[in-house]
Amino acid sequence: MTNLYAHRGASTMCPENTMAAFRQAVREKADGIEIDVQLSKDGEAVVIHDETVDRTTNGTGAVKDLTVMELKKLDAGSWYNEACAGETIPLLEEVLKWIAKTKLTLNIELKTDVEPYPGIEQTVLDAVERHGLEERVILSSFNPDTLRRIRELDHAVSIAVLVWDNVDGVVKMARRLGADAIHARPDFMRTAEAARAAASGLPIRLYTVNEPEDLEGIALSDVDSLFTDAPSRLRKELAAVSVE
Ligand code: G3P
Ligand code: MG
Repeated sequence: MTNLYAHRGASTMCPENTMAAFRQAVREKADGIEIDVQLSKDGEAVVIHDETVDRTTNGTGAVKDLTVMELKKLDAGSWYNEACAGETIPLLEEVLKWIAKTKLTLNIELKTDVEPYPGIEQTVLDAVERHGLEERVILSSFNPDTLRRIRELDHAVSIAVLVWDNVDGVVKMARRLGADAIHARPDFMRTAEAARAAASGLPIRLYTVNEPEDLEGIALSDVDSLFTDAPSRLRKELAAVSVE
């Protein structure tokens, strides 16, 4: 069966990239969660999608210009729903400590496509190792330099090439980087690269799939996992489609 990763946590039901969204992913029986990681001014890995705090908190400014103390004071829930006020930007440390107690797989997306965040690769690897989660994480990034650095630092951890466009040569790039999987959008399945990935034994995980229609014409048997904002609903809808 296709694995479902709660994208930014179960982010339809809860504010994205918060502990509430991650706990909701467990309630929705997701197989894993996907989180986005950036670095604070004082070099701490923090879980937030954007390079600024403006959209998902009550603060303003770039993550890289704010210390952990400053980031932790922000409300990361009320923008979504007043009932979620009090949620904060999680530290990667907090998520790792929590996930160790679950059975979830964790996809950590290193958000280095806009900010380079020097040292983020080592910071993330050290944190994963501290919690003994090397076997349960997948590190991904849109930035191939980040993946290359991770592979230089750690030969064993799972890494995934993350692509937005369906560029030719993704499979070659994955091989060159020693990557273990490809994370792409559903359209990727309609390209020759998808067949090459399958032939190379590289699992394909698709983002962000919220409706069965997003997968029209795509055989789920060719797909290892889906990233979705709504794991429970999608699981039910996919099951309904497959029996029709
Ligand atoms: O990692 C898959 C997906 O999260 C990439 O896009 O912008 O939602 O982080 P984005
Ligand atoms: Mg992401």
